[in-house]
Amino acid sequence: MSGGEAEAAEGKRDGFEPRIVGFLCNWCSYAGADLAGVSRLQYPPNIRIIRVMCSSRVDPAHVIRALLDGADGVLIAGCHPGDCHYIEGNYRERRRIAALKKQLEAFGLADRMRLTWVSASEGQRFAKVVTDMVEHIRSLGPSPYSKKGAGPRAGGVPE
Ligand code: FES
Repeated sequence: MSGGEAEAAEGKRDGFEPRIVGFLCNWCSYAGADLAGVSRLQYPPNIRIIRVMCSSRVDPAHVIRALLDGADGVLIAGCHPGDCHYIEGNYRERRRIAALKKQLEAFGLADRMRLTWVSASEGQRFAKVVTDMVEHIRSLGPSPYSKKGAGPRAGGVPE
């Protein structure tokens, strides 16, 4: 068992609570999250939301930085294909994330990132996406890059 796997197994035993960074596009997914909130839908509080104007504003460097700084998972959510307010931003993001996923595979992190679509009227879907993501990351355990003394988990400043 590698150090990361041992840490993951330990995290599951210790009631591990995943920390997920969620990049949500302003026009659809953020509004969907807002609808989930005003509808009082229940979903796990493990997500820290960052509002971006379009999913295409999420650069691979943002995802990598979040994962290296202690996030156990990263969720990117935008408008459904064909609905992007900037016409084809979400198509661009889909291509970019597919390429990033291949690179993250080398570090064992590909499974910790997800791209999905949530519209402004899909509060229920947003709650389900977050619930599924939290359960998925919980089953993986803590990120191997989430080390004690570095990143937001320990309250320290990453090197
Ligand atoms: S504006 Fe929502 S994905 Fe582009």
